[in-house]
Amino acid sequence: MNKYYHTKVLYGIAILAISIINICNGEQCANINIDHRIDCTPEIDNVTLAECTKRKCCFNDKFTRSLTSNKSKFIPKCFMPTDYTGYKVTQVGEQQNDQGHVSVFMVKLERQIPSGFPAEIPVVAVEITLLNDQSLRLRVTDMKNKRYEPPLPELNLPKPTDSFNTLYKVNVDKTGLLEITRLANSAILFKTDLTKLIYTNQFIQLKNKLSSPLIYGIGEQKAPFLKDTQWHMYSVFNHDQPGDSFRPLYGSHPFYVNIEDKSTGLAHGVYLRNSNAMDILLQPEPAITWRPIGGILDVFVFVGQSPDDVVRQYISLIGKPSMPPFWSLGYHQCRCCTQPNTLAEQMVITNRTIAAGIPFDVQWNAKEYMVQFNDFTLDEDRYGGFGQWIEHLHDIGMHYVPIIDPGIDPKQLAGTYPPYDDGVKYDVFIKNSTNGTFMGHVWNKSGFTVWPDFTNPKSPEYWTKQFRDFHKIAPIDGAWNDMNEISNFEKKYPCPKNSSLESPPYVPKNLKSMTDMTLCMTAKHHIGVHYDVHNLYGIYMAIATDIALKSVRQKRSFVISRATSPGQGRYSGHWDGDTDTTYKELAWTIPSIMNMNMFGIPLVGGDICGFLGNAKNTSFYQEMCARWIEVGAFYPFSRNHNTKKMDQDPVALGTVVTRAAKHALETRYTLLPYLYTLFYKAHTNADTIARPVFMEHPRDPHAYDPSIAETQFMWGSALMVAPVTQPNVTKLNVYLPAGLWYPYSAATYGKPINSSGQTLEFDTPVDKVNVFLKSGNVVPVLPSRQTTTAMRKEKFTLVVVLDQSGSAKGQLYWDDGDSIDPIENNKYSLFDFDVQKGSLSTRSVVDKYRDQEVVVNNVIVLGLKAKPNEITMNQKKWSNFSYEESLLKLTIDKMELKLNGVNNQIVWK
Ligand code: GLC
Repeated sequence: MNKYYHTKVLYGIAILAISIINICNGEQCANINIDHRIDCTPEIDNVTLAECTKRKCCFNDKFTRSLTSNKSKFIPKCFMPTDYTGYKVTQVGEQQNDQGHVSVFMVKLERQIPSGFPAEIPVVAVEITLLNDQSLRLRVTDMKNKRYEPPLPELNLPKPTDSFNTLYKVNVDKTGLLEITRLANSAILFKTDLTKLIYTNQFIQLKNKLSSPLIYGIGEQKAPFLKDTQWHMYSVFNHDQPGDSFRPLYGSHPFYVNIEDKSTGLAHGVYLRNSNAMDILLQPEPAITWRPIGGILDVFVFVGQSPDDVVRQYISLIGKPSMPPFWSLGYHQCRCCTQPNTLAEQMVITNRTIAAGIPFDVQWNAKEYMVQFNDFTLDEDRYGGFGQWIEHLHDIGMHYVPIIDPGIDPKQLAGTYPPYDDGVKYDVFIKNSTNGTFMGHVWNKSGFTVWPDFTNPKSPEYWTKQFRDFHKIAPIDGAWNDMNEISNFEKKYPCPKNSSLESPPYVPKNLKSMTDMTLCMTAKHHIGVHYDVHNLYGIYMAIATDIALKSVRQKRSFVISRATSPGQGRYSGHWDGDTDTTYKELAWTIPSIMNMNMFGIPLVGGDICGFLGNAKNTSFYQEMCARWIEVGAFYPFSRNHNTKKMDQDPVALGTVVTRAAKHALETRYTLLPYLYTLFYKAHTNADTIARPVFMEHPRDPHAYDPSIAETQFMWGSALMVAPVTQPNVTKLNVYLPAGLWYPYSAATYGKPINSSGQTLEFDTPVDKVNVFLKSGNVVPVLPSRQTTTAMRKEKFTLVVVLDQSGSAKGQLYWDDGDSIDPIENNKYSLFDFDVQKGSLSTRSVVDKYRDQEVVVNNVIVLGLKAKPNEITMNQKKWSNFSYEESLLKLTIDKMELKLNGVNNQIVWK
């Protein structure tokens, strides 16, 4: 048979077969819009007609789509017909609460035809519990057997309200339709056809409809902030992934926010509480398909009045973030990879940064200080005098943080290396499938690595002991937990063959394999197999490190972790890993920090100036580093870090970068009281800190425009940052939502801009970053100093930015900056500021931190249309003031106004 004839025959058979299927399924296949397809053979990349027919599904591989081939491959060729009945609803029931309201819906599903996946779950229970007026929980479980569920995050379930005036309506019926809609606008909050569910031991698939393509969240990915509904596949599995890549990054956050309507800002969110590896597919319908490869479906739906409201509900459920030490909001500087090779080299870099007058709080090191890259060791030859040097840093008001990786070297002489010997004694190392210690290799120079199992209840004690011993030689102030996805470069023996954990029926599409760069899936932790708990290693390590630091320092802990999962903000911050030194990656760090804020981890930043590449000392790179530090000065966690070869601290890169760094960081430092207050609000109210413009302006349709949402960001509600993220730009278009805005930089104020919701062009030379204060706010600031320790001794300024009606509001949170749980222990102060009709009142709301009283020296009122004739401070006439007409700016000074325990009133007329 010649080739042509052969193809023709095959084609003929295929057409015939399709017709047969279409005959079998009648309209059931033909009517399905390509954008609505549900994959019937998700595990098979090149499905054949024969396989598809076996599963009683529709086959059609003839579609044209202007997508990259990488994405077109996720358009199902074999998809479920409309009457596909994988499960049949055999029971629908309801439960009422004490007040007689239906509060739980129950559905029983029974499998009708094989899904094609092994270990089918024949009887499935669906339970929908109305948690309160805004949220509900949907649990899909095996009716007969208990399945794995992650112990973390612990849930703070919302208290049920008695009223049951729910914002939503649930409709579930015998046909398998499950629909949750918003009562106010009928928007779809969650809609799925339960008959098309796949629920097997190692593969679950559920598709639900989105109400618009405006979907945000799903982390951690090297992806734009707005997620892509054009058949984009996001894999979620903690993964060591350097550079620009489609593979999953270090953290797993199966949560999204979906905007229902740009003009109302109404939004809802969905969180899948499942710690297994998963794929999340977005399609143009628009719809989302969840594909976890284990566990259960435990879904939370949050119905909000705005995206902000949705995120607050999510973070309140999974755990609000902790208060960071005040010093950790200063500037951090680090370097890795054979440089600095000695303490002397390190001191040169630290000292030149200080000498340049760059505000600088925290010196770091990666593993260079260690002996053979082994945790809790100190190379006395190269880093002799390390402890005294850290003490010196403390003396000059600075702090010190080293890397502490999870990998422990098992090959040191017995009795010489307690981190290993103790681990054996405590029996805390992760085990392999045959109960030996699991062995791989990360950095340790012996070539071998073992890992503490932080889920073991004995681990925090073991870990604390190592910190306590090390702290005696190096009085560190925090810890940097790296490589904890768990990253593993090499397995010391092959993973068990023929194990469905090592080679599951479905492998997330953006992974090379389940075990790529990590442990074997059969490795054993106290709470389960690695297959199930892989994504939780980072959070368990953060918990142990948080316990260890608090116990050893008796102060607030500071932990930065690479691997993260939901609820981790309670224990650590995060940096977004090994970025390339490129403008593209620089721009990505903005979505990256906004995402982590939405995931309840507000203490987040990227490596300033990029990690992987070398910021060569050319003008191109100097400009890029200047731009990067201008963005980085507004990362909630601001650290410069670089790999090999060349120094990347601002001074090493010359005067342009030094000037930009100094300027941007001084601006940051003045704003730290405001930033710290935002952390208080995050901790107590689940607020986000670095957030997209639309979080603050949800009813402004422009704020969702990617050119704005991806490039500008806000700190809380009072501050907008609009940095340059491209080369050769000296004029920048910035969108300012309607209102009055004041350009701000290190205690200087530009001319007011009255925006009607416009994009305006701003001169942005290489040493300038656009920062604006928004009307309606009172922002507490301090003068910038070399360190935050020095700053804390200064007096405050209250910056009042009046809105159109002459009002403004604000708060200041203050405490000693470093004690454990200041809010829970009631050791803090809180002040409210309220401006109305020419009068600023300060109110002492909580007055429990008195060691350093808050004294206000200046009040600056911006947006005041005319020079006042008279100022009174607590009824007394005050003559120290000046007015600048061109800026509409009133400055009241030399006030020495105490805020603690009293209320004050300042009036201008
Ligand atoms: C990893 C970290 C990086 C660190 C390096 C060496 O690549 O992400 O920040 O410097 O390991 O410890």
